[in-house]
This record gives sequence, structure tokens and C-alpha cells, in this order.
Amino acid sequence: MTDDSGATIEDYYREERTFPPSPDFVAGAVLADPGIYPRADADPEAFWAEQARELLTWDRDFDTTLDWQLPFGRWFVGGPLNVSYNCLDRHVEAGLGHRVAIHWEGEPGDPRAITYADLLAEVGGVANALKRLGVDTGDRVCIYLPMIPEAVVAMLACSRIGAAHSVVFGGFSPDSLIDRINDAGATVVVTADGGYRRGVPFLLKPNVDVAVADCPTVTSVVVVDRCGSGPHMTPGRDHWWSDLVAAESAECAPLPLDSEQLLYLLYTSGTTAKPKGIMHTTGGYLTQVAWTHKVVFDLRPETDVYWCAADVGWVTGHSYIVYGPLCNGATTVMYEGTPDTPREDARSGDDPAGWDKDRLWDIIERYGVTQLYTAPTAIRTFMKWGADWPARHDLSSLRVLGTVGEPINPEAWMWYHTHIGGERCPIVDTWWQTETGGHMITPLPGITATKPGSACRALPGIGAELVDDHGKVVEHGGGYLTLTRPWPSMLRGIWGDPERYRDTYWSRFEGRYFPGDGAKVDDDGYMWLLGRVDDVMNVSGHRISTTEVESALVDHPAVAEAAVVGASDDTTGQAIVGYVILRGGNDPTEELRQDIRSHVATKLGAIARPRAVIIVPDLPKTRSGKIMRRLLRDVVEGRELGDTTTLADANVVEAIRDRAGSGSTDED
Ligand code: PRX
Repeated sequence: MTDDSGATIEDYYREERTFPPSPDFVAGAVLADPGIYPRADADPEAFWAEQARELLTWDRDFDTTLDWQLPFGRWFVGGPLNVSYNCLDRHVEAGLGHRVAIHWEGEPGDPRAITYADLLAEVGGVANALKRLGVDTGDRVCIYLPMIPEAVVAMLACSRIGAAHSVVFGGFSPDSLIDRINDAGATVVVTADGGYRRGVPFLLKPNVDVAVADCPTVTSVVVVDRCGSGPHMTPGRDHWWSDLVAAESAECAPLPLDSEQLLYLLYTSGTTAKPKGIMHTTGGYLTQVAWTHKVVFDLRPETDVYWCAADVGWVTGHSYIVYGPLCNGATTVMYEGTPDTPREDARSGDDPAGWDKDRLWDIIERYGVTQLYTAPTAIRTFMKWGADWPARHDLSSLRVLGTVGEPINPEAWMWYHTHIGGERCPIVDTWWQTETGGHMITPLPGITATKPGSACRALPGIGAELVDDHGKVVEHGGGYLTLTRPWPSMLRGIWGDPERYRDTYWSRFEGRYFPGDGAKVDDDGYMWLLGRVDDVMNVSGHRISTTEVESALVDHPAVAEAAVVGASDDTTGQAIVGYVILRGGNDPTEELRQDIRSHVATKLGAIARPRAVIIVPDLPKTRSGKIMRRLLRDVVEGRELGDTTTLADANVVEAIRDRAGSGSTDED
């Protein structure tokens, strides 16, 4: 709650349900002893050094665990290693070459099972090809690919020779590509002619042709032939992937690299300014992603089939499709397409609207998936489609469910728990960021009694605290989330801009990293993430989080999805405006809107009753599924729209503007 020192973020929602892990789960869990928390906190550096030595193979042991010159950290100093060796060779050397590393499924239904031995050979060939194209240790390679195994191969091939990759999500436009290639000064672009989405090829190579015309550093383009679309190939510059690999030996010795060698850049779009090239390095990053992948998903690599349904273009794909799972010798699933595109052989018609919405559940059943990791926005979509779709499939192989990317509202958590997890799978709600590289705040499935909607607590070895506007620690209620000490997979900076790194993350609260999120802590010490602090609303001096109001809206039986923003209000400073998508079968009547407003007031208190509820067909989201509240604020204030380049579907805002302008609000 607020205190005299100045309001932070207030706390209205109460959740009483708790879900401890079952005795059976605890009995077989990778981690079941809560003693790990105090042990790690007593000496975090020693704790991380232990994980680094246990989980990774180093060419030589490191001398110094951490060299910390705030805000610049170097981990495991003096210990050389190679990431691709850790992800491939050592498993093959241990006799696991026949183990499937990736069960890949193309959207049309074309499967490929790629073993660790296959992957090692392909990575060796591509690493040699990159060298032949002039790529050297420290150079940057841009990867612009669909969700095909070559994306993983290209990333690992870079890591084998010490080149840094910069993966650009395949949905981005030529302009985004130009910004990212030029900022990184990439010399090679790895792409494909296209990929499959919703049953048709979407082309990538033409975007690369447009972009590269404005990218003077690029000398070569490597092209995977995914769709047979016959792209234009510029002689001398463009090369077919298959030709390059065929000409090379599959053996390429992994280079021992400094623990602080740049492993990759990944660009996050700031809301207005130019994208930031987040820098991740080698030893610390691999340690934390391997450890968290193992303990947070309770990994048993011998028998599990783990599936992270994100795109490799996001950090979730980097850390939890590629580096964490492969370092741990896991078998993973990778799927190219959308959740509502059936396999070609199972397709009943050409009408996308009529397509089946159970592709994910079909994949889980066929491969016997044991862990599923996805985003709340996807879960809410599955809820909208209805529980009948998963009910058609045997999902009993699932053991652990994960979520990431946004706060998960309790309603969606319960749906996931009931309809996907069969009320038996622990749910790990993992809070982290591109910048943190790996999980930071999350339950441990064999230890934590979870609460729907809470990311629970900081992992062993991680320091997280809430503070108020003055930087004073908040023990109960709402505040700003901060991280109190360095962690191995932390970003090492923003490419080319150390001052922006310091200003963005380390200047707001002295000595603390500020991720930009609000949170609250309850009486049991559980953390509840409340969204970006830029989104917090101020109603009559009360700082109310959008997350809590959205959760209360989605809790109404007629509401499928919701986004909330603050609109200027002469009386209250800001007033709450809720945009909602209705579940099928509900009419957008005046009565229903009033009922939804009252529902919020009942759940959270009268202060949180929205001034208006606007019923819309869709919400503006980024390509990774985050709601762009900034654009909704522009609409509600009648302003010109700000930067829309990261918007997934540009038509959505116009549709919303029409609704907002048609007077379908409920002003008091
Ligand atoms: O606001 C938090 C939200 O997503 C932000 C990080 O976004 P990005 O760098 O794109 O990385 C997404 C994948 C890690 C955070 O600052 N966020 C992420 N996970 C959660 C979350 N908010 C609440 N709960 C989460 N589990």
C-alpha cells in the first residue's frame, strides 16, 4: 500500500489459492530441498561458481568468479570455453550422439528428427562455411530465418568460431532489419527464401535484398531453400546454404573463447528511441540458462521431451530453445507455424477460419511432450478457442507448465492448470527479460507452493527487492522491482552505448538494477508482477497497476481479453479505460458493459471501477504478443499514433479507433 513517503503502486487484488507440488512430484524432483535458498544467498558467488563448474565443460578452470565494477560485470574470468562444444560435442563424446536434439515439425507437417550427432556435423559445416566467407572471431552475423532448424545451426556455428549472432525475428520488416544490421555492423546475413505461416509461404529473401542495399558492411548472404520459391540470387554475394555446406568438411574444431566473449546481440525495441542491442557473453550466460533450464523445468534429459513454443527470434528462444536445453543434452520440440494451422494431411478445407485449433495439443500428444513453455497471451487465445480443443488429445505426458512474457492473470493460470495440466502439473511463471538473459523470479516446481498469478520469488543466488520512489525497501505492498546484485547471465551492456546502459538500468536507484517493472509483495513474501511502471495509472492520487484491473476484467465470464490504460481526466487526474474482447456468444450491450465495470469494482474496490469499457474486436500487440498500451493511450487521448513499427497487425488500431469514436463508452 502507499505510505507517507510517497505512493508507489497500490495493491488491490487478493489471491487465496495455493498449489503445493504433489508428494509424487517432490519425490522425483531435480530440486526438492528449500535449503538451497539460504545456502545460495549466504554466498551467491560461490553458488554460481559451483553451478558453472558442475554444468559446463571449461577448457581451463576460471580464476575469478566475479569482477564487479558497477554496472559492468565480468563472470568466470580466466576460464575459456566454447558454447557449441558444451551444447554438442561433449554429449556426442559421452555416447549420446543418437539422442534426438530437436524434433522439428514444419507447418505443413514435414517432420525432421535431428540427433546430437547430426547437429554437430551440420554446425561444423556451417562454421567452416562462415570462416570461408571471412567471418572471424568477434565479427557479427545477422540471422533472419523462420523457425527452422537452420536457425539453431547458424547460432551454434557462430558460437563455435566466436562470432556474435544477431537474430532478427522473421516477422520484422526491411527497415527493422536495416537498423539492426547497421547498428551491429554485421558482415554476413543468414536467411531463407521464406517460411510457412497459415498454410502459405511468407517470403524473407526479398526483405533481405531491400535491406542489404542500405547495409554497406554486408558482404555475403547465405540462403536456406525452405519453400522452393526461387528467389533472386545476386552473384558473388548470395550463396545457397546447401552448396556452402556441401563444399565444407563437417569437422570444425571448437575455439576456446574467453568467458566474456560476445555470444550475441539481441535488439529490444524501446518505445520511442532506437532499438537497443543487448549484449550477452559466454560463460556466465551459459551457466545461468543451463542451470535455470534444468531446475525450473525439472529436466530429466534421458526421458523428457521439452517444448518451448516461442520463436528463436526472441530471447526466450535463445535461452530456452537453444542454449539452455542443448547445453543440458535435452530433447526439444521446435514448431514452425501457428497453433491453428493443421498439418496438410489433416486439413479439412482451405478456409483458415475453419481450421482446427488443436495443433499444439496434437504435437504434445504425438511427441509425448513433458514440459510446455508458452506465453499468457497464447493461453488466453486458447481459452477463447475453448477447452474442447485440448480435450480431444491425450496430454498426460505433460509434467511441468511454464509461462513467460507478461503477468499471467489468475483466470488464465487456472485454465492452464485445469485444461492443459490436468490439475497435476506445477506451473512455473517465470519473470525475466531480454536483459537478464535467464530466469530471475520464478517458482521451483518441486519446492514452491504456487499462487495463480504470482511469479513467487527470486531464484537462489538472485537478489530482488521492491523499493519506493525514494529507494526505500518495501516489505509489503507495491513498489518498483529492483535487482540488488549482479547475476551471471546479466546483459553486459548496450552495443556501442555504455552511457545508455548506465542511464537506462542503473541510474534510477543507486546501486540497483531497475528493470522498469512494478510489483507487489504479499504477506508470505511472494512477488506479483504488475507490468511496466510506464503503464501505471494515477487515479485521484492512487497508483493503480494496469495488470490488476486487466485481471479483474478477464475474471468476468464474458471477457476473453483486456487491456487497460489511464486517460486524462479533469477530476481524477487519470481515469481508467478498459478495452475488452468478449468471449464468443456475448452481445456488446450497454447492460453488459455496466456489469463488467461493476465486476471490477467488486473485485478491486470502487477506486478501480473503469470510467469506460470499450468493446473491441482485437487489441494492438507487438509481434511477441505484448499489448501496446502506449497506442491505446494515444487513441484514448485522440492523439496521433506514436511509433507503430513493432505492431503485429496495423489494422487493429484503426478498428479500435472506430469503436472509441462511435461513442460506445460508459461515461459516468
Ligand atoms: O515486463 C516484464 C515482462 O516482459 C518484460 C521483458 O520483456 P522481453 O525483454 O521481451 O522478454 C520477454 C521474455 C523474457 C519484463 O520486463 N515479463 C516477462 N515475464 C514476465 C513478465 N511480466 C510478468 N510476469 C512474467 N512472468
